[in-house]
Amino acid sequence: MMLSFILLALLAHASPIKCLNHLQHKMNIIILAGQSNMAGRGGVVNNTATGVTTWDGVVPPECQPNPSILRLSANLTWVEAREPLHADIDYNKTNGIGPGMPFANAVLGKDPKFGVVGLVPCAIGGTNISQWQKGEFLYEQLVKRARVAVKSGVYRAMLWFQGESDTVNKQDADLYRGRLERFFQDFRSDLQTPMLPIFQVALASGSGPFIEEVREAQLKLNTRIPKVECVDAKGLPLEPDRLHLTTPAQVKLGQMLAASFLHSLCNNASHPTSRSSSLIISNDYGGG
Ligand SMILES: *[C@@H]1O[C@H](CO)[C@@H](O)[C@H](O)[C@H]1NC(C)=O
Ligand SMILES: *[C@@H]1O[C@H](CO)[C@@H](O)[C@H](O)[C@H]1NC(C)=O
Ligand SMILES: *[C@@H]1O[C@H](CO)[C@@H](O)[C@H](O)[C@H]1NC(C)=O
Ligand SMILES: *[C@@H]1O[C@H](CO)[C@@H](O)[C@H](O)[C@H]1NC(C)=O
Ligand SMILES: *[C@@H]1O[C@H](CO)[C@@H](O)[C@H](O)[C@H]1NC(C)=O
Repeated sequence: MMLSFILLALLAHASPIKCLNHLQHKMNIIILAGQSNMAGRGGVVNNTATGVTTWDGVVPPECQPNPSILRLSANLTWVEAREPLHADIDYNKTNGIGPGMPFANAVLGKDPKFGVVGLVPCAIGGTNISQWQKGEFLYEQLVKRARVAVKSGVYRAMLWFQGESDTVNKQDADLYRGRLERFFQDFRSDLQTPMLPIFQVALASGSGPFIEEVREAQLKLNTRIPKVECVDAKGLPLEPDRLHLTTPAQVKLGQMLAASFLHSLCNNASHPTSRSSSLIISNDYGGG
């Protein structure tokens, strides 16, 4: 009785630690890319009378800085990461809370020995998938920043949250799947990491009416290419603009991405050649 209790306690404790042990000592490079909801607009309020947008400055505990979380700044130096993570990247816009800090804090919360997390912010608000195709400015910047980052560590994942801009025209929404797939494959190929794990977010909102078409492409991509996981943001709370996730929504999303990342890492360690699992992490707001 007592023995089985201890055994259960040990098992419950041992599984997440064991599957993360192989990492150690190298900076864990996490690339962040996409549009405004990846850059972060949580807590950004638009004064409709004046048209001026400001960030409320609220940084919840899940988004606080940590000496083990660094950020590759716009000038390509590593600094301690702080909200708003994309302030010097998406510099024409008012940035707020995004999923990057709650993701990193959640991973370190699960395993304090994970090592240093090196976040590489690259998201730009209002961009469409065509602007992220190989040869375009945003794509080349992304590859450049990733290559600089990896000199200090090892690629662990790209977190990708984009597609709101591709919901305006039916044709763009229908072409989204092919464009997304080509982008992921070109990016992996240029980084010489054909199995780079990619964690993408299925849309919670869009600039136009064709949201479900884009979501379908996102939710099914893992059946077409390996090592692409999807977490579903549908139903997470939005700012009054109906487009941007609130700060609590971004905290939740960061934690969902961390759960998917850790799940995939554990799968990977025990079955290094396994294809992407079909796990889809949903939020508790009734979406997905
Ligand atoms: C803020 O609101 C004004 C008035 O509704 C609008 O013209 C402007 O585009 C909005 N700005 C942003 C950044 O959302
Ligand atoms: C690079 O950017 C960081 C963060 O914004 C800043 O602290 C640092 O002074 C900058 N370094 C140079 C050489 O400009
Ligand atoms: C900022 O705006 C300028 C002027 O429109 C533009 O040239 C530049 O590409 C923009 N940069 C970003 C990161 O949005
Ligand atoms: C994507 O955005 C760019 C820049 O705003 C624009 O020139 C282009 O027409 C858009 N492309 C598509 C396919 O929507
Ligand atoms: C999974 O394993 C592959 C090959 O061993 C490695 O390249 C990749 O980075 C691993 N994934 C993660 C999330 O560490």
